[in-house]
Amino acid sequence: MMSTGSATSFDHATFSFDPLSAAVRANPYPYYQYLREHSPVHFVPTLNAYAISRYEDVRNVLSNHAQFSSDPLIRIAFGEFNPAGDARYVLASDPPHHTRLRALVNKALSNRYLTEIRSEIEHTVRGLLQDLPHQREFDFIEQFSSPLPVKIVGEFLGIESARTADFRRWSNSITAGGNAELLTEDQRQQIRSDAREFREYFLARIADARNHPRPNLIGALVAAEEQGQKLSADEVLAMCVLLLIAGNETTTTMLANALICMRDFPAVAAEVRSDRSLIPNFIEESLRYSSPIQLLFRRATSDTVIAGIPIAKDQIVMPIYGSANRDGTMFENPDVMNLHRPDVRKHVAFGWGIHMCVGRALASLEGDIALNALFDRFSKIEITSPTIEWVDAFYLRGPKNLRVICS
Ligand code: HEM
Repeated sequence: MMSTGSATSFDHATFSFDPLSAAVRANPYPYYQYLREHSPVHFVPTLNAYAISRYEDVRNVLSNHAQFSSDPLIRIAFGEFNPAGDARYVLASDPPHHTRLRALVNKALSNRYLTEIRSEIEHTVRGLLQDLPHQREFDFIEQFSSPLPVKIVGEFLGIESARTADFRRWSNSITAGGNAELLTEDQRQQIRSDAREFREYFLARIADARNHPRPNLIGALVAAEEQGQKLSADEVLAMCVLLLIAGNETTTTMLANALICMRDFPAVAAEVRSDRSLIPNFIEESLRYSSPIQLLFRRATSDTVIAGIPIAKDQIVMPIYGSANRDGTMFENPDVMNLHRPDVRKHVAFGWGIHMCVGRALASLEGDIALNALFDRFSKIEITSPTIEWVDAFYLRGPKNLRVICS
């Protein structure tokens, strides 16, 4: 198989698609295009799953939660490193458990909360910007796009600021655990130890919140009684783990990918700078064009058919969000950014159906505040990394680091 930038250069006889391979991780888009055109339901032996690549099929899988269960997600995402034992995660639950857990987290991330957290985000962004050097190279991820969501999610969970660095390490480590196939034994040891520390820290916080009610998410979860049933300590822990994993690296990646999009589409960058009211569209369009979550998994609950291909009960399917978002039957001229698409919000970068991202509004708010403040402070943001090295993850796609000079 050739690994060039064009789907037309693949050889039909030998084409193979493995999201764990270095070639796909470097640039998955030609592979996705090939899949959409020639093999929309494609078996991936290394993951024992069927890759679903067309927009319509991805949306159908995500919309049909009775036919496609989310139950394999946590096992696949955390493997042996799950810090919350056997507790149910909202992400990996089906109704009725999903409905109960989702109601709790929805309440916690309500519009009222977003209004309250706005000034905290502005304050955090101002603080981070103050420390960024002028006309001297720095790592945008290290100094801006990673600490921002870590602080905001940490605030939300009520983490003491002295533990922010630990919190960031735990978050990065547990996310890395989702790519067990790519890890060395030393890395596994480190993740086991981080997951253990994380668990101990949060169990102590949960016990503390039971004795001393606190105005943060842990306090709210501990106090919550939904349908007369209190959450167990492990269920509260599972929610904390999920918010941490779901809220940190995704938002970091969204901001970093947005900068790369501006580099690659300078006319779009100039347009959004000159008309700030386009920032929300720019964020949506860069999420479509360069989706942080590339793919996830579902399990078929009975025999079914997708695009004419039979899928047996219990077979794992892998909707590729990053491919659906580049499907030309849905998005005109999909490989080009366009802030004026009529369907700019129809991408599936936040998922679709009952599991659609509960933090969508928070992520968009963080993006909006961050980009406005970056544009205020710097008239030029130049990426100096000669090549982009992508994170060692097959379901998350963003740069490992991003050297920039701002002026
Ligand atoms: C740009 C940033 C983000 C992206 C790209 C993103 C992406 C996603 C996606 C694709 C899903 C659906 C998963 C599925 O289909 O199984 C999801 C669900 C979820 N996200 Fe986000 N997310 C982001 C930010 C956040 C933030 C900031 C939070 C909270 C602090 C959050 C919390 C969650 C939770 C709890 C779920 C599970 C919802 C459920 O299962 O009902 N996410 N996210």
